[in-house]
Amino acid sequence: MKHVFIEDIKSGMILGEDLLNNFNVTVFNKHHVVKDEDIEKIKKLDLLMISIAEEKDLIDKSENNDEAEDSIIEAERQKYFDSFKDNYYDIINKYSSYASNLDSSSKDAIEKTANDLISALEKEKSFVEIIKLIRSEDFDVHRHCVNVSIISFIIGKLLKMSNREKRNLVLTGLFHDVGFTCSAKDILGRPVIGVEDEPKHPFHSCEKVKSVYSFENEVIFGILNHHERIDGSGFPRGVKGNDINIYSRILAVADEYDRMTTKSSKGENSPFSTLESLNKMSYGGGLDPKVVDVFTNMYTGNYLGHKVLLSDGRKGKIVYRNKYDKFRPMVKSGDEFIDLYSEYKLNIVDFI
Ligand SMILES: [Fe+2]
Repeated sequence: MKHVFIEDIKSGMILGEDLLNNFNVTVFNKHHVVKDEDIEKIKKLDLLMISIAEEKDLIDKSENNDEAEDSIIEAERQKYFDSFKDNYYDIINKYSSYASNLDSSSKDAIEKTANDLISALEKEKSFVEIIKLIRSEDFDVHRHCVNVSIISFIIGKLLKMSNREKRNLVLTGLFHDVGFTCSAKDILGRPVIGVEDEPKHPFHSCEKVKSVYSFENEVIFGILNHHERIDGSGFPRGVKGNDINIYSRILAVADEYDRMTTKSSKGENSPFSTLESLNKMSYGGGLDPKVVDVFTNMYTGNYLGHKVLLSDGRKGKIVYRNKYDKFRPMVKSGDEFIDLYSEYKLNIVDFI
């Protein structure tokens, strides 16, 4: 099974799922072979992507065995991010070993971390899986920096930034909070972020990185302004609008997302409620709407087929993206279709 953007649908493709209209009426059945005349009808369903069956999906499908289909999808997903997972933990370990004590001897290690992260990410296609994987159980500033770096790279790629710009984004993410390493440490030797450090840490981060590595100016300003907000409500200087470069704007979204979805953080927010919060923060003038949009669309454009847990304990699979509210899709649980757009008291609590 693969997911294909609606504009890439071609005659001869085989549907991997039933396609429903806004009234939950099946317009095309699963395994229907798309013909030229179907393409316009499919486009009118206002979907971003649809599932397309591949040859191996059709083997032994005569009994329409949902469980077998689910395991094929799972196996494909597993394959996508298994290699990334090993690299991810290795990168965090290596980064943690030098980030607290940055000095001029860290140059090679900085280069290596950036190169390893970029090559692991360039190979990966399933960004939703990566973002699910890097969600932290516990807040740790080193893991947070690596996570923000990864999310920023993904946003940069979605914004079609150049390789140089994506590399600078990775570096900005890796070192944006390194000023916290000047702070007290916990019993595991991890930096403890104190309230008193919060307003000053972008300055500390800049001072620290400038003394050890010749970062481009846009990286330095990216680090300095990662808590600034477009409406001037941020810190440490309260700059606003175009005075905040694209690196800081991307980092602001990545930073908020990672903090809000860390499981032990204040809100223990689900990815879905966090995406909705980011959306509201962009309407309010704090976050860059274009950056938030590209990030949330990456999620909601690829969530079809993902398994989720609902707030009433039911488990299901996302089968339909609602055109009026992309954060409230339709979920199939057993034989039941649950439309979260109308079932407004129900929420997606998590991916499973
Ligand atoms: Fe920060």
